[in-house]
Amino acid sequence: MKKLPRTKIIRNPSFPKTRMQQPIALPIKKRWKPLCGDAKHWRVGIFSPIIASRKEVVEFEQHDCPELFMLIEGALTLVVIENGVERQIRLKKNVPVLVTAPHAGFCPNGSHTGKAFVVERDEFDTMYRSKEDWTSRQKKGAQRHA
Ligand SMILES: [Fe+2]
Repeated sequence: MKKLPRTKIIRNPSFPKTRMQQPIALPIKKRWKPLCGDAKHWRVGIFSPIIASRKEVVEFEQHDCPELFMLIEGALTLVVIENGVERQIRLKKNVPVLVTAPHAGFCPNGSHTGKAFVVERDEFDTMYRSKEDWTSRQKKGAQRHA
């Protein structure tokens, strides 16, 4: 596991070249795999966590843009921290969820047993922090606005 806190900067090219008008193979047993996209605009990929429980979540990520998740196979639970409070979202098949809060995910039935289709930008920044760090930052933010 990499050290926290840290920031990751994604810049184009952030997805593989694709043969147009051809089916794209989905990855097998990969945590995250970008599939294709439109340079400087969007990219899509498949998210399939290796971890299988909330206990295994060490870090939460937050992007500087929204990220859309839609379950396409198996089971996958997102964990989000909103206003200093942690909440789990059990994704439902074919029901998209747009996420802006710090988040993580796990497959409750075992490593890589769920797959979500993800839409995000081609270029964005991500901050990785512990739950405690996000919670205290959000609470401080709420106090400033009170
Ligand atoms: Fe994310």
